[in-house]
Amino acid sequence: MKVPHAWKDRKKEMIIPHGPGHRTASKRPMWILVLISLVCISLIGAYIYPPRRYSSCYFFASSVCSPFKDWLPAINSRVLTDEEIASHVVIKDILAMPNVPSKNPKIAFMFLTPGTLPFERLWERFFLGHEGRFSIYVHASREKPVHVSPIFFGRDIRSDKVVWGKISMIDAEKRLLANALQDTDNQHFVLLSDSCIPLHNFDYIYNYLMGTNISFVDCFQDPGPHGNDRYSKHMLPEIEEDDFRKGSQWFSIKRQHAVLILADYLYYTKFKLYCKPGWEGRNCYADEHYLPTLFSMVDPTGIANWSITHVDWSEGKWHPKAYRAQDISYELLKNITSIDKSFHVTSDERKLVTETACMWNGMKRPCYLFARKFYPEALDNLMNLFSNYTAI
Ligand SMILES: *[C@@H]1O[C@H](CO)[C@@H](O)[C@H](O)[C@H]1NC(C)=O
Ligand SMILES: *[C@@H]1O[C@H](CO)[C@@H](O)[C@H](O)[C@H]1NC(C)=O
Ligand SMILES: *[C@@H]1O[C@H](CO)[C@@H](O)[C@H](O)[C@H]1NC(C)=O
Ligand SMILES: *[C@@H]1O[C@H](CO)[C@@H](O)[C@H](O)[C@H]1NC(C)=O
Repeated sequence: MKVPHAWKDRKKEMIIPHGPGHRTASKRPMWILVLISLVCISLIGAYIYPPRRYSSCYFFASSVCSPFKDWLPAINSRVLTDEEIASHVVIKDILAMPNVPSKNPKIAFMFLTPGTLPFERLWERFFLGHEGRFSIYVHASREKPVHVSPIFFGRDIRSDKVVWGKISMIDAEKRLLANALQDTDNQHFVLLSDSCIPLHNFDYIYNYLMGTNISFVDCFQDPGPHGNDRYSKHMLPEIEEDDFRKGSQWFSIKRQHAVLILADYLYYTKFKLYCKPGWEGRNCYADEHYLPTLFSMVDPTGIANWSITHVDWSEGKWHPKAYRAQDISYELLKNITSIDKSFHVTSDERKLVTETACMWNGMKRPCYLFARKFYPEALDNLMNLFSNYTAI
């Protein structure tokens, strides 16, 4: 975070007046004492009035001034680029806009899948009896899905190829959002994969998402190789390394934030150009960084900082744990639904763990509404248990 860094630098600089020169202070003429007091006063001033976010160096060459940047009182704001001024004003207006009123608020369930959805029958059971309170969108990036449930018929949107880790993943998410936003009754937008399952019944999930003004976007600061090491200086001046965030791709966002994502061109373009798999793109995966970075910059208090889709990384492998048919039990599902803290682990050698209680409107509640990854073979066992494990 900005403030602690600035504070640290400031403390370093404050040592100087009490440094080696201190011993000879008595021999010094008055003006040195006056100068020292002036420096002290401005340092205290800098502490009381912390530098503004965009404080920058107007009068100094950048090499001279960079160490001062963080502790001097704001001399001047960085001159914003044209794109940045435009972007800030558009985003500010979107965030200030009242919700589009809807007599019949719905949740948009957006499936990002290569092809056929293996858990369609489970989802059908989940949706049945709640017609009019949800809408479904399917983006199949590899082959046309074969639907077994009538509620999925005709719900495929025009899609395009998705390459793992590339910006085409974000483009597919934006395509889903654009389609789902056309229905003004859709108030909340959930991104799901083909290996996702619901962890609760429909009413529980509906009330959980509709009952809060927060978007569930996972977000944390990771100083390690899977975090800030992926940051590229080409993202300057708009995105500083301190702004860079990481988080799971699987979001659930309110309408205002969905519009914001479609309106953003500036930050999207930075990630499109400078966050790519492979060495040149700093081995960066836009789907793990773009939205967490965007929201932590433009609306940090509007996001929960955790994802409502559970995934188990505890095995420490390249891919999360995937559940087979024999893994499915009442106990497993209860274990997942009873988790009420979210965990983040940094990818550096410290492996620093942060544990945060999942707070919903000021109340501690279970974190997860959906879970991944499940093998298609788990379907029958999940169907058999569904009404049991979702009975609140
Ligand atoms: C969400 O925000 C709107 C406008 O600020 C407010 O009227 C509404 O009560 C809030 N809803 C919840 C569930 O907090
Ligand atoms: C998410 O994190 C940001 C920055 O750390 C914080 O300002 C915000 O309050 C957090 N969101 C919630 C809902 O606690
Ligand atoms: C459920 O959680 C308990 C306690 O953490 C653990 O001992 C048990 O192995 C878990 N069961 C399953 C099926 O994950
Ligand atoms: C679900 O199954 C568990 C274990 O088999 C049982 O203890 C529990 O009573 C069941 N709950 C419901 C609501 O059927």
